Amino acid sequence: MTDITSQTKAALAAIAAATSLDALEAERLETLGKKGWVSLALKTLGGMSPEERTAAAPAIQSARASIADALDAKKGALEAAALEEQLARETVDLTLPAVAAPKGSVHPVSQVMDELAEIFADLGFAVATGPEIEDDWHNFTALNMDETHPARAMHDTFYFPDKTGEGREILLRTHTSPVQIRSMLAQGAPIRIIAPGRVYRSDSDATHTPMFHQVEGLVIDKDIHLGHLKWTLETFFKAFFEREDITLRLRPSYFPFTEPSVEVDVGYSTEGGRRVVGGHGDAPGHAWMELGGSGMVNARVLEFAGLDPAEWQGFAFGLGIDRIAMLKYGMNDLRAFFDGDPRWLAHYGFSPFDQPTLSAGVGAKA
Ligand code: PHE
Repeated sequence: MTDITSQTKAALAAIAAATSLDALEAERLETLGKKGWVSLALKTLGGMSPEERTAAAPAIQSARASIADALDAKKGALEAAALEEQLARETVDLTLPAVAAPKGSVHPVSQVMDELAEIFADLGFAVATGPEIEDDWHNFTALNMDETHPARAMHDTFYFPDKTGEGREILLRTHTSPVQIRSMLAQGAPIRIIAPGRVYRSDSDATHTPMFHQVEGLVIDKDIHLGHLKWTLETFFKAFFEREDITLRLRPSYFPFTEPSVEVDVGYSTEGGRRVVGGHGDAPGHAWMELGGSGMVNARVLEFAGLDPAEWQGFAFGLGIDRIAMLKYGMNDLRAFFDGDPRWLAHYGFSPFDQPTLSAGVGAKA
């Protein structure tokens, strides 16, 4: 009896003095562990007569209970202290310069823009840019859409307020086509450019976001015809999707700035719920998907841009970058592109060290 009382006292003192979880665990094994003295004492109860058991049991059980409570309490205290210590140790000093470990990743849109530039550079195209805050003349008028043109209504334009209060002069460009005008005015002909960038329309659902990305293409030279356009797009898509069985369909359409105008469709099939580009759209199990608009540059547009249509012709195209990125890398929700969620980027982003090159393949190895 006195034995148990003094042993318990000693155990509680040892528990109180434990400075680590390891020391505490050693104390637990010594008392409540399978071979601990409390457990052994409890076992002796089985061999006692009922009277002896009634006399001995309360002391052993209360020893077990007080030691178990003390172990629990001490464990909680040690764990809390360990967490405090870890939090103190892992404080991030935001004023330190970034270390070399590459944590960021390249957004799929940036990746695809790099891939586009690489492929078109090989075809002799330069990359041109224009302002995202555009004026009405470059975005509409010079592209053969005067004030009354119904096509303007289709663009759901974001306008800036202006002096007149009417807010119809300065806008967020609704397409990359104004870069056609700026390039022709700045450099004359011949021209071979692509112009990737952001465009804006007041439109938002699962497949439309108010800001999205296009790449414009423009070729101005002598004796250019639709065949050049088709070959150029076909060659681009073969390199971009890294497969030879790309089939394009040019479907008659209408844009004010091209004449004739054609919409560009590509054949695809669906594999495991995912659209896979390739094959003829009319083949069994295949269909056509629209990738963008194009056509021969309208003579009126050439005139607006200071070129003589009797001397120069050309083709232009506009493709949705987000859409071709989704197709190539298998994303299904456009809105996720612009959520800025680091988990999405960690999943779909690309190594900052990946350089798209034609020789190594422009497809990113994520
Ligand atoms: N700018 C057109 C659009 O945004 C696409 C296009 C570009 C069509 C060039 C023809 C030529 O829909």
